[in-house]
Amino acid sequence: MPNQPTVFIKNRSLSITVNPAFSLLNNYLMQNIPIQTLCGGKAACGRCRFRVLENAQHLSPVRSAEQARLGDTLIAAGWRLSCQTHALRDVTIELPDLNEEFTP
Ligand code: FES
Repeated sequence: MPNQPTVFIKNRSLSITVNPAFSLLNNYLMQNIPIQTLCGGKAACGRCRFRVLENAQHLSPVRSAEQARLGDTLIAAGWRLSCQTHALRDVTIELPDLNEEFTP
């Protein structure tokens, strides 16, 4: 039985099963979960960001591209980029509103 982590998107009351081989962004797109992306997953737009609420250690390590796009303050507050992150085990997260822009 392959590892199939669950991502609970708390502020949408939505649980989805993800494939850890793909980024969270690609998992969302494959399952038609509404998610913002302007750059197509290149860590450039910041629109795919999310905040991890529980089990941050179950995510893949922060990449330098995320560090550069989000900055130390947001990273320290638990923000990640869906396009750069894989869920390796179960996590609980929240997503920004779909119409929320991102210009740090
Ligand atoms: S999709 Fe643009 S930063 Fe992730």
